[in-house]
Amino acid sequence: MTDSRRILVTAALPYANGLAHMGHLVEYIQTDIWVRFQRMLGNDCLFVCASDAHGTPIMIRARKDGIPAEEIIEHYHRRFQEDFAAFHIRFDNFGSTHSSENRELVNLIYGRLQSGGHLQSRTIRQAYDEKEGMFLPDRFVRGTCPRCGATDQYGDSCESCGATYAPSELVDPISVLSGTRPVERESEHLFFRLSEFEDELRSWASGGALQDSVRKKLDEWFETGLQDWDISRDAPYFGFEIPDLPGKYFYVWLDAPVGYMASLLNLARRRDDIDFESYWTPDSDAELYHFIGKDIVYFHALFWPGVLQAAGFRVPSAVFAHGFLTVNGEKMSKSRGTFITAETYLQHLEPQCLRYYYASKLGPGVEDIDLNLDDFVLKVNADLVGKVVNIASRCAGFITRLADGHMSAALPEPALHDQFVAGAVQVAESYETRHFSRAMRQIMALADRANQYIDQHKPWLMAKEDGRETEVQAVCTQGLNAFRALVIMLKPVLPGLARAAERFLGENEWRWTDIEQPLLGRRIEKFKPLLQRVDPKAVAAMLEASRATMENTRPSTPSTEELMDEITIDEFRRLELRVARVSKAETVDGADKLLRLTLDLGDGQRQVLAGIRSAYQPESLADRLVVVVANLEPRKMRFGTSEGMILAAGPGGEDIFLLSPDSGAVPGMRVS
Ligand code: 2FM
Ligand code: ZN
Repeated sequence: MTDSRRILVTAALPYANGLAHMGHLVEYIQTDIWVRFQRMLGNDCLFVCASDAHGTPIMIRARKDGIPAEEIIEHYHRRFQEDFAAFHIRFDNFGSTHSSENRELVNLIYGRLQSGGHLQSRTIRQAYDEKEGMFLPDRFVRGTCPRCGATDQYGDSCESCGATYAPSELVDPISVLSGTRPVERESEHLFFRLSEFEDELRSWASGGALQDSVRKKLDEWFETGLQDWDISRDAPYFGFEIPDLPGKYFYVWLDAPVGYMASLLNLARRRDDIDFESYWTPDSDAELYHFIGKDIVYFHALFWPGVLQAAGFRVPSAVFAHGFLTVNGEKMSKSRGTFITAETYLQHLEPQCLRYYYASKLGPGVEDIDLNLDDFVLKVNADLVGKVVNIASRCAGFITRLADGHMSAALPEPALHDQFVAGAVQVAESYETRHFSRAMRQIMALADRANQYIDQHKPWLMAKEDGRETEVQAVCTQGLNAFRALVIMLKPVLPGLARAAERFLGENEWRWTDIEQPLLGRRIEKFKPLLQRVDPKAVAAMLEASRATMENTRPSTPSTEELMDEITIDEFRRLELRVARVSKAETVDGADKLLRLTLDLGDGQRQVLAGIRSAYQPESLADRLVVVVANLEPRKMRFGTSEGMILAAGPGGEDIFLLSPDSGAVPGMRVS
């Protein structure tokens, strides 16, 4: 098709340290519906996303769990993919910001920002936790509000009086990591001169790229004046080290949106038909849309287009922000069981029901949407089961029984079909402009029309009279064509149901224009129910399960179990656990958690880097016996290679317990 559009769509990258939940799904479902609609039109529409893998919270979690951050992000990366696939969210690529493509592009952009003179180095003062040996993001400092005296407030703003301030202004500040009082330290940081791009950003923002309310917000920000943006962070940090600044890392929010590009690059390297560059040149003919939550507008409507311009790339065609999700009218709550993960939902309910419900609520604006669970049951049952699927179940049986499964060769009421064709034009307009709730209402009005038609002709009565088989067949053919048109229109929202309906009618994958031609003379399959009613008991069970899961886990703090899958006894047997004697223990420059241990395993020496410095002075370890995983593949770490791992028990900090010195073990002994 010559007039087909080239479109690249992204949804915000989920942080790889927590499971997908109902709130995330609003965005991925919204975006997926729009993308599927574009593809049904025949547009060349790519949909990419990735795990957002970097940043302080992920690093801290890894530290606390005593596992590499890579392990955490891989775990959640896999879980996201499973959950999104189950909800029929079909990315062309789901990459990771911790990827070689992202590093390559971040470095490229950094180089261009540097050479263009868009970066400036400045010394800043920041809260520093001496015990943990790290600078603290504002949110990691808590204390008493300097304005109203409310206790236990964040380092950047007070939830009680709304004041904003610097962490240094808090009364009695403490680090949430160690509970100690932070000190102020100076550090050199890199700033992106955002204000240089004010004119370009103003004209981009007023050129149709933003929703009205978002544009107004930007106007306020322009009025207050654009602040230059700190794009660097000090070690320790989990991210990409800045090439010419050892010990400094790119801030996660710099490399996250670059992750959109990187995910496409990763895909393009595997697919010959995708020309990566052509999506990013300033004169690109491709459209670029970012779907995001309204909380991250600043990053997507100021920083990101600013960085893109500065680096000589095109800017987004539009940024589409959506509102937050409430469940039963309130913020998701763990104690009420309304903090529902994708996984818990899937254990109790059909994913497409949520897709339909969200579609029936979503508009093009930034208003919050509510998942009211009673309404969810009523709407799904009334609309999808009662109105749409019911049409097929009312008609299909007669075609099978009275016409040997054959639809008639002509429609008895072509004008009714024409109404559906005309209706589809309106529905398409609604999808295109993200008025999904309007699209669902338009489709349901057509479904009502189809049911009226069947009620009027009452095929079940006609079927009782001899000689009216052809008439019944014709009415049911009309009915099935209405059903078919409705499901084609619902296909972006209900892809699984649409696939089943395609098979039932013996058709290939529907495109939007397939609505225009009715299906006639075709032999259909025997009808099987396409969707079950939602049982309110399943909803209650889901809430109960959420409550129970949330009581047992602390999602913001690490649960090591969550990260570990079961291993088999054979896998366990593969571990070679042996006793070793510490022949030398020394501190490691620049790594305040680690000790470098030289271990004697009876048959040779090994060097192991162990994170036990908080509990042991190196001198105290000389000649201590430890249990070591002797057949662990050597790991290259920043401070050298570690050729094994020692086993210890305890929560960390000062409580890390090794084998007792008088255990009677001898080096080399196998542990089983
Ligand atoms: O707010 C968030 O959840 C971020 N992880 C979104 C990143 S979107 C993009 F910029 F990468
Ligand atoms: Zn206050």
